[in-house]
Amino acid sequence: GQLNTLAVRAGLKYFGTAVDESKQSDSQYVSLLSTTTEFGQVVPENGQKWAYTEPSQNSFSYTQGDIVPNIASKNGQILRCHTLTWHSQLPSWVSSGSWTKATLTAVIQTHISNVMKHYLGQCYHWDVVNEAVDDSAVYRTSVFYNVLGTDFIPISFTAARAADPNAKLFYNDYNLEYNGAKTDKTVEIVNLIKAAGAPIDGVGFQGHLIVGSTPSRSSLSTALRRFTALGLEVAYTELDIRHSSLPASSSALVTQGNDYANVVGSCLDVTGCVGVTVWGFTDKYSWIPSTFNGAGDALIYDANFNKKPAWTSVSSVL
Ligand code: XIL
Repeated sequence: GQLNTLAVRAGLKYFGTAVDESKQSDSQYVSLLSTTTEFGQVVPENGQKWAYTEPSQNSFSYTQGDIVPNIASKNGQILRCHTLTWHSQLPSWVSSGSWTKATLTAVIQTHISNVMKHYLGQCYHWDVVNEAVDDSAVYRTSVFYNVLGTDFIPISFTAARAADPNAKLFYNDYNLEYNGAKTDKTVEIVNLIKAAGAPIDGVGFQGHLIVGSTPSRSSLSTALRRFTALGLEVAYTELDIRHSSLPASSSALVTQGNDYANVVGSCLDVTGCVGVTVWGFTDKYSWIPSTFNGAGDALIYDANFNKKPAWTSVSSVL
């Protein structure tokens, strides 16, 4: 491995990966994710989400959530933490509860305070609010928005700063890479957080992209700069670039490599882009096939842990 070594030499803080808590008995998987020259940063793929950490009200559980933080601390890897206020993987006691503004505010504050204090001192970044905007670039009609309007966003960030003053607090979403209506809406979110007097330190570009439809390096840099211009950090937080249909031809694998290089290159081009995290690293384990019908092979190692052209392209651009 060497992607993290190259990334740090090129001026980034890390090159990292999401880690799937359920694959810890695969020794090849564990060995590669623990190679710190390759991955200087890790993030839990699922275990810190609300459904795991507070499955019933005021009953906190960290069995799943602790798996990846323990790996990070054993290996000396930077930890990104993910995620606090999100409409998905949200237990039904939250999504189906009958709340007033006051009671839902207290639920959010209690959740954020307990979870962040459990991980106090361990999280370099926290994804505080995830995916508040839907695919049509309007606020998602989650329980949070339905009860509190946009106030749930500054409420979450204020609670997060109070719980862990040293973690950098991120808003995280997908499809920001196209610099379209959803990117505009996210600029609006940053501004509303600031107008409310609440803190925010960064915006995460998830980077769930498609081979052959990934924006150019300069377009991506332009999108990132929308947020660094507001004084924020940015990072690619969940990068994967999927083939729309399988099997991928050899030319599609080359295109995938070019797309990966454009994404990583755009981070290098933007002061304030601190790192790149891939959402898994081997095609053996990825959320893509079960979410996007027919699509897959979105990562930088194949299902046998061999480096793909995408790995080589990333290493060349760094
Ligand atoms: C995904 C995980 O990879 C899957 O294992 C899980 O079943 C669903 O969630 N945006 C996010 C991530 O912020 O938390 C999601 O992770 C992928 C989309």
